[in-house]
Amino acid sequence: MFRKTLGFLLALAGYAGHAASQNLRSRSGSVTVRWIDGAPGHGSGVTFGLPWARGQHLANATTFTALAGNGDPIEHQSWTTAYWPDGTVKWTAHALAASDTVHDRYNILATSSSDTNSSGSNRHATNTTGSLRIIESSNEVTVDTGKIIASFPKSGHALISSIKTSDGKVIGKNGRLILSSQSGVVGDRDNGHPSDVKFFKFVSKIYNTTVSHEGPVRAIVTVQGIHREAGNTTVSHSDWLPFTVRFYLYSKSQTIRTIHTIVYDGDAETDFISGLGIRFDVPLTGEELYDRHIRIAGVDGGILHEAVQGLTGLRRDPGKEARFAQYSGTRVPSKDRLPSNVAGRLQWIPSWNDYRLTQLSPDGFNIQKRTKAGQSWLKMPGGTRAGGLVYLGGATVGGLALGLRDFWKKYPTSLDVTNAITEEGSVTLWIYSPAAEPLDVRPYHDGLGQDTYDKQLDALEITYEDYEEGFNTPYGVARTNEIYIYGFETTPSADQLSSMTSYINEPPVLIAEPGYIQGTRALGSYWTPPDVTSKSALAKTIEAHLDFLVNFYMNQTEQRRWYGFWDHGDIQHSYDVDRHTWKYDIGGFAWDNSELSPDLFFWSLFLRTGRADIYRLAEAQARHGSEVDMYHLGNFTGLGTRHGVQHWSDSAKQARISTPVYRKAFFYLSGGDERTGHLIHTALEAEKAFVLVDARRKVRNPSIVYKPDPAALFLNFGTDWAGVAAAYLLEWERRGPRWEEARDKLIETTKTFPKLKHGFITGEALYNSHTGAWSPPPTDPGNLGTVSVSHLSAVFGVLETIDELIEHYADIPQDFVGAWLDYCYYYSASKAEQKARYGKDFGNLSLRQGHSRLTAYAANKRKNATLAARAWKEFLEDNSADELGPDDPWVTVRVNGSRVLVPVDEAAWVTTNAAALYGLAAIENLALIGSPDGAINSTIG
Ligand SMILES: *[C@@H]1O[C@H](CO)[C@@H](O)[C@H](O)[C@H]1NC(C)=O
Ligand SMILES: *[C@@H]1O[C@H](CO)[C@@H](O)[C@H](O)[C@H]1NC(C)=O
Ligand SMILES: *[C@@H]1O[C@H](CO)[C@@H](O)[C@H](O)[C@H]1NC(C)=O
Ligand SMILES: *[C@@H]1O[C@H](CO)[C@@H](O)[C@H](O)[C@H]1NC(C)=O
Ligand SMILES: *[C@@H]1O[C@H](CO)[C@@H](O)[C@H](O)[C@H]1NC(C)=O
Repeated sequence: MFRKTLGFLLALAGYAGHAASQNLRSRSGSVTVRWIDGAPGHGSGVTFGLPWARGQHLANATTFTALAGNGDPIEHQSWTTAYWPDGTVKWTAHALAASDTVHDRYNILATSSSDTNSSGSNRHATNTTGSLRIIESSNEVTVDTGKIIASFPKSGHALISSIKTSDGKVIGKNGRLILSSQSGVVGDRDNGHPSDVKFFKFVSKIYNTTVSHEGPVRAIVTVQGIHREAGNTTVSHSDWLPFTVRFYLYSKSQTIRTIHTIVYDGDAETDFISGLGIRFDVPLTGEELYDRHIRIAGVDGGILHEAVQGLTGLRRDPGKEARFAQYSGTRVPSKDRLPSNVAGRLQWIPSWNDYRLTQLSPDGFNIQKRTKAGQSWLKMPGGTRAGGLVYLGGATVGGLALGLRDFWKKYPTSLDVTNAITEEGSVTLWIYSPAAEPLDVRPYHDGLGQDTYDKQLDALEITYEDYEEGFNTPYGVARTNEIYIYGFETTPSADQLSSMTSYINEPPVLIAEPGYIQGTRALGSYWTPPDVTSKSALAKTIEAHLDFLVNFYMNQTEQRRWYGFWDHGDIQHSYDVDRHTWKYDIGGFAWDNSELSPDLFFWSLFLRTGRADIYRLAEAQARHGSEVDMYHLGNFTGLGTRHGVQHWSDSAKQARISTPVYRKAFFYLSGGDERTGHLIHTALEAEKAFVLVDARRKVRNPSIVYKPDPAALFLNFGTDWAGVAAAYLLEWERRGPRWEEARDKLIETTKTFPKLKHGFITGEALYNSHTGAWSPPPTDPGNLGTVSVSHLSAVFGVLETIDELIEHYADIPQDFVGAWLDYCYYYSASKAEQKARYGKDFGNLSLRQGHSRLTAYAANKRKNATLAARAWKEFLEDNSADELGPDDPWVTVRVNGSRVLVPVDEAAWVTTNAAALYGLAAIENLALIGSPDGAINSTIG
């Protein structure tokens, strides 16, 4: 039945496909992609992903071509990012070259040839016309985009040794990472003396430089290394803060998109980052001081226009042409054409050597400049939120701009220009500003005497924090930033820099229609675009409530300033109605760390609506959650941290937080973002962490003897296994290095899990991480049947992961699906039904509204209209603390005056748990069983 509707759905959604015969191998189809927030002013090169329905295009016999909306061919390169098990493409990635002409839409044409003999490789053929040149030698990699030539050494400290224009002029050199740190905080303790604090400076030290992606349109050069103490042969601090920097270069582009990642591997008590950045030198030899320009992006597209030596505003007029040239960044008429009363006195006009912009809060930035070290800084007018772009260069020598995406949202940040009056100036982009207080990652309390599990569990009763000494560590958390490097032949116009500033803050995204994506089922069957033809009043209300919730979180992000180096991308967990603030300082109620899957709510809402603002929200969350809320080094590698006051403060380290199902939409839609791809591999490491970290160590019945063993891990299917299962599935789809192992483990699970007498109702059982096989829990070695149902098992992406597995693995054993549908059915069934089936009921379970999507899932798969009605009843009539319903106010209330620090809009009736569950359940119920008051079940009927 589904197969019949697929073609229709795809046609509706803008997929034009036809098969010349029943033979799969001779088929073509085209898909249209559009910009999520309108065509950008210029194209710097872009990558995007496209899903394809099972069985459409064999990966090894399909060619992809890109055409502009008007039919013009486009410079394009494509590759496969995921495969269906039958060998057809599931996801492809497409890179378009840079271009001054940006079209509103593009069509990607897939042509599958019947001639399989001509295609021997198992990668799909790609019709490429790009002009990128990559030259690799034993000591460096050079990439020529046609506009710039960048060289990446394989050793030393410079990640980019030079950036040249196409005619060979060097416009930037010695691009290196810099770090400063200190061993303590001056004045931190009463007895602290500044002399006790040691200060260190580091520069990047390269381990390796590799071309990690290559083609005629796009190349990625990945540089890995560490920060090593600079400028002194006597080592006083060991190497630390490993980095991975990925440089993306596109054909015909003057831009290098840079994804910069660091992992914190210091000691929180003694390693305080006091500055972290990237610096380039800019050759200025031969350029008159008055032809050297500084440009800094300000507010709302604003640009600072400064020259090292100013010719404007002087007592004697150099002439309008000179003044205008300097302001615009073009060359000032030669000295002999300047009036003599100016030309003879240039030596008296101060020249500005250094500039610094500091954004120490999301609300304001300052700028200052000085003539040289040792002289006073001169304060300049600042503003609110800087665009995050700085340029240094000259009218004839050209120069370099550096930009940081979300500059003010990632505060404290800075931009520096130094040595602008010398032969070689420098520009520095500070990801962590040296003007800020040092980055303090120590625990926020001293443990409060919680030295036993009993005390820790008792403290949980009051602050909801699950504390344990040593677990509140930032060791192994990471942060990724997006940086843009632009090379220029001559000083660019302010308009051009302004357009680049918008571009780096909202990098353009190409995407297919929601209906097309849904029809391919490459991201599961649990969401559909809103049914605009629905006559259901309740469905309309629910749609309005979904909008309310996502808009509310966007607004709260701004009003509550959920910004900062670590924090940007997270939201908070619950609300303190007395203080009119989120519970930012109360144990387990502060940062949300993906609790109950708001990520899936936002991504599903984006997928069904295509709304650009939701994409940006979900992308920032994906970047935050997978880096800061997750571990990348040490014993916790692959696990995440439960919600808390600091992103890493809680002692519950679990795969339910690090599960890559939260990043999956971003990964594929972005064309396989390489950093996220790496994080999916890190999530596979959770298997090892389960051995090192016993998640139930504090709550286990002491009579049960349990020693973690990789062949017999006592795991919960939802909060533990689902996270690695999501990683296995991605690895299988991607055909990553461990894909066969990942596939085999998933298949083994689908064979062995149903053998547990009570299937998923067993809750926790023994998992063999070598094979994927499950066996009965240690409490029930004879498999007589255990009933252990937790409200938490199915609220961290397990339904979505299993659904995607069912969609992927056509031959999945039906008793596995049946066991899962039983869980979906019985969780909210009556106690009598539970008892009749399992011999005992499940006790009083909460989160019924959130679980209504499980009921809907069973209703859909079992085509049971009665069950569909039950699902909507559970959704609408939960009436517990963690639900939202039509009776809630669905408005915010303004609180201002002396009651609050700043005026805020509050919805005291919203908790993030409830919002996430309501959002996901609403989306999934509408998709799976239709509207609540309409013909339930047009889809299951
Ligand atoms: C590649 O694309 C160009 C431009 O659309 C087209 O003319 C050419 O036939 C294509 N080549 C292949 C092998 O598909
Ligand atoms: C192409 O892939 C299909 C499905 O995986 C396989 O059966 C076929 O042998 C492959 N053909 C070539 C030429 O590799
Ligand atoms: C680069 O070096 C790091 C650190 O030694 C290592 O983990 C990584 O595998 C290396 N990568 C490549 C591509 O050689
Ligand atoms: C080099 O390090 C040593 C030991 O830490 C220190 O005494 C010396 O002043 C340093 N020299 C420079 C030039 O920084
Ligand atoms: C969010 O802010 C916008 C703009 O101020 C406002 O129109 C909207 O009503 C707000 N929505 C919510 C749910 O807070």
